[in-house]
Amino acid sequence: MPKILFIEHSGKEHLVEAEAGKSVMQAAVENLVPGIVGDCGGACSCATCHGYVDAAWGSKVEPRGEAEEMMLEGAMDVQSHSRLTCQIMVKPELDGLVVRLPSSQS
Ligand code: FES
Repeated sequence: MPKILFIEHSGKEHLVEAEAGKSVMQAAVENLVPGIVGDCGGACSCATCHGYVDAAWGSKVEPRGEAEEMMLEGAMDVQSHSRLTCQIMVKPELDGLVVRLPSSQS
C-alpha cells in the first residue's frame, strides 16, 4: 500500500499506509492523525481536512476542483500548496506523498 507522511505543524511525523481508492483524508482519519478531522466525510464542505501538499508532489496530484477552490477561499492559513485532502485519491504513484498540516489545525 502507498505510504503517506503527514507532518504536524509542531514537526511531529505520522507515516501511514493508505489504501488506494480512498482519499488522503480517509487515510489520515483511519490512522488517527491529529489535525485532519474530515467533518463532512469528504463532501468538500468543511475544510477540516486542509493540508499542504509538499511542493515536490504538487504536479503529481490532481489539480484542485472548483468546489475545492471555493472551500479553500474560506479556510484559514491557505497557501499555494493548500489542498483539501478529501479531494485527493490515493493511488500507487502517490507512494511517499508528504502532507504538512496548518498551525490552525494543531
Ligand atoms: Fe470536509 Fe474535506 S472532509 S472538506
